[in-house]
Amino acid sequence: MFNMKVRCARSLQGTVRVPGDKSISHRAAILAAMAEGQTLISNFSEAADCQSTLSCLQALGVRISRSENIVTITGVGKRGFQKPDGPLDCGNSGTTARLLTGVLAGQSFDSVITGDASLSARPMGRIIKPLRKMGAQVEADGGRLPIRISGDKSLASIEYRPDIASAQVKSCVLLAGLLADSRTALIEDTATRDHTERMLEWLGVEVETATNYGSQRISVSGDSVLVARDINIPGDISSAAYFLAAGVCLPDSDVTIPNVGLNATRSAILEFLRMIGGSIDVLDQMDISNEPRGTLRVLGGVKPSGETVVRGPAVPQVIDEIPILAVIGTQLTAGLEVRDAAELRHKETDRIAAVVENLRRMNGIVDEFPDGFRVERSDLKGASLDPFGDHRIAMAFAIAGLLAEAETEIADPGCVDISFPGFFDTLADVVR
Ligand code: S3P
Repeated sequence: MFNMKVRCARSLQGTVRVPGDKSISHRAAILAAMAEGQTLISNFSEAADCQSTLSCLQALGVRISRSENIVTITGVGKRGFQKPDGPLDCGNSGTTARLLTGVLAGQSFDSVITGDASLSARPMGRIIKPLRKMGAQVEADGGRLPIRISGDKSLASIEYRPDIASAQVKSCVLLAGLLADSRTALIEDTATRDHTERMLEWLGVEVETATNYGSQRISVSGDSVLVARDINIPGDISSAAYFLAAGVCLPDSDVTIPNVGLNATRSAILEFLRMIGGSIDVLDQMDISNEPRGTLRVLGGVKPSGETVVRGPAVPQVIDEIPILAVIGTQLTAGLEVRDAAELRHKETDRIAAVVENLRRMNGIVDEFPDGFRVERSDLKGASLDPFGDHRIAMAFAIAGLLAEAETEIADPGCVDISFPGFFDTLADVVR
């Protein structure tokens, strides 16, 4: 396995194309499979994680054909899945495992969900708890994969208030709710990404959302029918974030990223980059398949900033951008603090530990807290880095390498394929 070398850069110039949104691609595939009729999905993500979702659906008897980024799915209806021949391997993908468990809890056959070593270390109790309340029989030793689901349990509707802010938990409960006896509601005290709700509506499901004292009550009915309808996936703003960050931090940059998803529950990174002095223009804004998108043009330049703290309800809005925020923090006069983000310890790797370790290897000044970190303005130096198998750590630290003196080496660069195959080539094309 070779290491990837990254050198200090002056600017980014040109146009960057990012893969279709990973979160939305998972949902498009799963919901199209549950729909009646055939759905053509365009700009489907090339991420390995989304391939895991397609492979699991195929193992469940769903007919899927793929030609590059166009995926055609023949829906089997909500209860038309077939018993798989063996365990369903979700690879590295938490979204696949958690959303599919919700769907499988309401099927008539037994199934087993497995994954790679990283996914097998991640907590699943958060979805098992509500599914059991619905009457599902779901077992997992120590709340970890493999998950064993016994079929033929009719699901009762519940009203559920998760104790963590997680779009994966919300989506799991809503998908199981589509198979339950009446209306299932999820109460969210802190808003998380709403792609599941938007795609359900696109496919004809009535999703009721009521706001009460800052909480949202989102509900779906067990008698909903999903109707196939073509879906176009916007580019992934979490993949664009690396180029936006480098563009802002390298002063003479001028980068254009076409067709990026601009869903308000995902786009807080843009506000952050503007706040620290970046100029980001949105061109050609439009809504397609119930998801907003537009072309982003970023011009470089960080201005001296005051204290920057990301905490509380702001955290889920940038949950996947926190590794790159840490890197940006090294360029800010007053540094950057992230708190209330203990969830990061349960991602593909412990992202708090991974960020702190790699920043320190690069001469970064950083303190670690149980729920976050504080980065001071630091003169980064090239170093040998370990992404701990986590795509977002590898990509964030590739950008750190552009900002550092001398050469940075990143081990296991192939891990970027989980969300962004071709990331390093795309970066090499625009680095000056
Ligand atoms: C995701 C939700 C987030 C995010 C993950 C994808 C999704 O996880 O970190 O990369 O597609 O719903 P949580 O909702 O568990 O925080």
